[in-house]
Amino acid sequence: MARIYTLVNQKGGVGKTTTAINLGAYLAQHGQRVLIVDIDPQANATSCLGIDKHSVENSSYQALLGEESPVSLILKNERLNLSLLPSSPALAGAEVELVSELGRETRLKNALASLQDSYDYILLDCPPSLGLLTINGLMAAQDGVIIPVQCEYLALEGLGQLTQTIQQVRSALYPDLRVRGVVLTMFDRRTNLANDVVAEVNNHFPKQVFKAVIPRSIRLAEAPSYGLPISAYAPSSVGAKAYDALAQELLAGDGKS
Ligand SMILES: Nc1ncnc2c1ncn2[C@@H]1O[C@H](COP(=O)(O)OP(=O)(O)OP(=O)(O)O)[C@@H](O)[C@H]1O
Ligand SMILES: [Mg+2]
Repeated sequence: MARIYTLVNQKGGVGKTTTAINLGAYLAQHGQRVLIVDIDPQANATSCLGIDKHSVENSSYQALLGEESPVSLILKNERLNLSLLPSSPALAGAEVELVSELGRETRLKNALASLQDSYDYILLDCPPSLGLLTINGLMAAQDGVIIPVQCEYLALEGLGQLTQTIQQVRSALYPDLRVRGVVLTMFDRRTNLANDVVAEVNNHFPKQVFKAVIPRSIRLAEAPSYGLPISAYAPSSVGAKAYDALAQELLAGDGKS
């Protein structure tokens, strides 16, 4: 049965999508069957994997509304051995359309249930908000959330709000929701600030921070414009090695290596 992790942080631009794509690519390289589910109307994960979001006819939107069976929506990249349930701009409407639906918070969880046996890892890429799409992401996070935190000034700002939302979801809907780990992203070792942030985040989330720290790397920023994960674009770059280390740390923690 697949492990399902949700990449979440309502702060924008912290590395959710970059982590979903590149962690997913390395998990696949280590022999895991991986599905990335894009539930962000920005559809960045979809674009990062070389799919034109405007050409996507059926997306996670249809899965959320129960209009299509999820298996029919999946695009498989044979070369990368990576599957994608794409997003499309239409998903922006789901936030509003789902409000009046029964079981609106568990739409995604239910849609993914049928895919559990076909994958080893399902990674969900959330939008930068704490709206209904992200709540669906949290409810579907069967094995926990992975929180990317950017190593910069005010890194912890907003994490209180995220922790509070996770707590609310636990008390109202899903008591077993866990934090699988925090990933430090865009670390720049030349700055004292970055080291302070690492210490601060470790204090805030004791024993929950992944040892693999993702450095700021121009290669990681370039790869999406080629529609490739870092494992295919620049496999010997520092960013690639960091995401490989993260994948191996996750696998080890999951008892899979
Ligand atoms: N380690 C890194 N080094 C350099 N650039 C990075 C790194 N990680 C991410 N980026 C770049 O930073 C920007 C934001 O990253 P990303 O899209 O992964 O964040 P996000 O949290 O998914 O954003 P959003 O909240 O908008 O969905 C992107 O342009 C990405 O290419
Ligand atoms: Mg994103």
